Amino acid sequence: MKVLGISGSLRGDSYNTALLRNAPIELELWDGLKAIPPYDEDDDVEPAPPAVARMRAAVAGADAILFATPEYNASIPGQLKNAVDWLSRPFATSVLRNKPVAVVGASTGAFGAVWAQAELRKVLATAGARVVEGDVAVGHAHERFDADGVLADDNLREQLGEVVEALVAEAALREPIAA
Ligand SMILES: Cc1cc2nc3c(=O)[nH]c(=O)nc-3n(C[C@H](O)[C@H](O)[C@H](O)COP(=O)(O)O)c2cc1C
Repeated sequence: MKVLGISGSLRGDSYNTALLRNAPIELELWDGLKAIPPYDEDDDVEPAPPAVARMRAAVAGADAILFATPEYNASIPGQLKNAVDWLSRPFATSVLRNKPVAVVGASTGAFGAVWAQAELRKVLATAGARVVEGDVAVGHAHERFDADGVLADDNLREQLGEVVEALVAEAALREPIAA
C-alpha cells in the first residue's frame, strides 16, 4: 500500500513533518508544497502547471494520504489550502475524490492544531475525499520531540498508530492503485 505524507509546513525543522516521520507505516513524504503556484482558475487548464501536475500525479498514485497540518491563526496555512484547491479540481474527477485521507497536527500552542485539523477535514471532505475519523493533536510541540525527532509521548504515539490503522483500513476497502 502506498501512503503519501503531506506536511502543511514549509519549515525545515517542522514539527508536523516530524510527526509524519513518526507514523508507524512506510510513507513517501511529499516535498513539493513550496513550488505550488497560487491557484488561478485561468491557469487551471491542461496541461497543468508542472508543479501542480507532479502533485496531482503523486496524489493520484497514492492509496492513502496522511496530512499533518500546523495551525496558523486558527486555520490551516495558506499554502496548504492553496495546494488542496488545486487538487480539488476538476471537481467531478479530481484526484482527491474518494481518496482515503487522515489528518493529524502539531502546534506550539496548547491545543495541537485542533482547529486547523478540523478545517482541513472540512476542506478535504468538501473536495470529495474519504476522511477517516480520529485525530492526533500534538500541543506544545517544541517539548514533544526528542533530539532525534522521535515523538516522546506514548499516548500520542498510540493515537498516531490508531489513525494510521484507520487510514489503512479505509484504503483496503478500495482497489489498490497500481504502481
Ligand atoms: C503565522 C503563524 C500563525 C500561528 N498561529 C497559531 C495558532 O493559531 N495556534 C497555534 O497553536 N499556533 C500558532 N502558530 C504557532 C505554530 O503552531 C508553530 O509555529 C508551529 O511550530 C508550526 O508548525 P511547524 O513546526 O510544523 O512549522 C502560528 C505560527 C505562525 C507562523
